Amino acid sequence: MAFTYFFRDLQTLNTAVKYLVPFSSGATKVRVWDAGCAMGQEPYSMAILLAEAMNHFAYRNLKIYATDIDGSNLFRDIIASGTYPTEELERIPRELFDKYFIPATKPGHHQIVDQVRSRLEFQRQDLLQLQPPATEISLVLCKNVLLHFQPHERVEVMKMFHRALVPGGFFATEQTQKLPPELEPYFEQVSPDCQMFRKIGGPI
Ligand SMILES: C[S@@+](CC[C@H](N)C(=O)[O-])C[C@H]1O[C@@H](n2cnc3c(N)ncnc32)[C@H](O)[C@@H]1O
Repeated sequence: MAFTYFFRDLQTLNTAVKYLVPFSSGATKVRVWDAGCAMGQEPYSMAILLAEAMNHFAYRNLKIYATDIDGSNLFRDIIASGTYPTEELERIPRELFDKYFIPATKPGHHQIVDQVRSRLEFQRQDLLQLQPPATEISLVLCKNVLLHFQPHERVEVMKMFHRALVPGGFFATEQTQKLPPELEPYFEQVSPDCQMFRKIGGPI
């Protein structure tokens, strides 16, 4: 099972929220793609942060596509139900835990509330197939996945992200991931503190 946890690299998630909220203000659809979402900890963290930061209208128009190549049955079951062992949720700030989780029927587990679960849609997907789950995406979050690819594959996957984004949309990756030089005309870094980029330039 992939290594991940709720609120991992909170600095990047908070930066993504800071840019996405004003960018998508007034939009009738706000699409986020979490590419390589493991068992849902990251897209659910993002959904909770956005529930806190967005107004009711914007949050209602939010859809998070959560995709992963994981072939196990656990993938769909765990993410769809949003049910996790309570001990895995201990790092979530208390006030957010109390607000967004309820005791699950399974002993020792908690479930994410419907308000958050209903924002996510899960799909099994191999990023190397270069088929995004949607177009007109405002934010692509792809963290701790690209490092597994060959350099040329990484470039092709990032080009796909560029094509899937709306003009001016954002792409965030992990702190240690660098933008390949050949993609510098197509993305500009928005913050020196994290690897988050804004789409620039025309079609690739
Ligand atoms: C370490 S986890 C990252 C989870 C989360 N994004 C994070 O940063 O904590 C890496 C995930 O990438 C997924 N993955 C690896 N190769 C992939 C591919 N070709 N297409 C889609 N997902 C892939 C794995 O199944 C795994 O769930």
